[in-house]
Amino acid sequence: MSEVIPSPNIWGSPDVYEVENRGVDRDHVIESAMRSVLDWAGADVVDIGCGTGYHLPYFARDARSVVGVEPHPPLAELARQRVAGMPSCSVREEGAAAVGVGDGSFDVAHARWAYFFGPGCEPGLAELDRVVRPGGAAFVIDNDATRSTFGQWFRRALPSYDPRAVERFWERQGWRRERLDIRWDFDSRADFEAVVGIEFAPEHADLILAEHPDATGVDYAVNLWWRRY
Ligand SMILES: C[S@@+](CC[C@H](N)C(=O)[O-])C[C@H]1O[C@@H](n2cnc3c(N)ncnc32)[C@H](O)[C@@H]1O
Repeated sequence: MSEVIPSPNIWGSPDVYEVENRGVDRDHVIESAMRSVLDWAGADVVDIGCGTGYHLPYFARDARSVVGVEPHPPLAELARQRVAGMPSCSVREEGAAAVGVGDGSFDVAHARWAYFFGPGCEPGLAELDRVVRPGGAAFVIDNDATRSTFGQWFRRALPSYDPRAVERFWERQGWRRERLDIRWDFDSRADFEAVVGIEFAPEHADLILAEHPDATGVDYAVNLWWRRY
């Protein structure tokens, strides 16, 4: 199994992360950008680092099959529970560097805020080369810390993060990038506060909430990195 990268947000608070997922990109900007590269209708899809499997039923609406890959056992179990009774969906307790399926098993690979964070994810990229069929596509969704309100919070909380180094990494790998502007919107201030509280250390969360006393959402820039096979 590849090195497991701790995710304190979803590992510690899967219920709040569920609220977060429901508030991410309600306008489906990411979905539209992905579909314009390769539509997954009738395709075999893998979601790497699927967490609690939030996106599995969503892919299953159009895909032929959907496999969630998740190395953290409690989350893999939650993902299994989510897709119980959905015959086209399954979950593998594996990591990105060894997905544990045959060569050329998938048409589309998707990884959202999971494992593929730039330098260090080379073993997972080699595994994508193995498991994605010729003609297929892989998508990685991650923060664009150079832009947006959320990006400013992210860089303030993580000053050592070097977005340019991440961009150079993907460019060296020959991946392409769509700069996307999405929203992070919640139904109530309580939800917003809870989600800020799992994404940021207490001193940063307090600052964010003090600076945005009435907010229930903000603008959020992300990069959609992708390549065809
Ligand atoms: C921030 S969560 C995102 C979960 C999911 N993609 C979503 O959008 O709901 C990151 C996930 O990556 C998983 N992860 C950690 N190391 C991994 C690895 N080596 N391979 C695949 N996934 C990994 C974590 O356990 C966690 O579930």
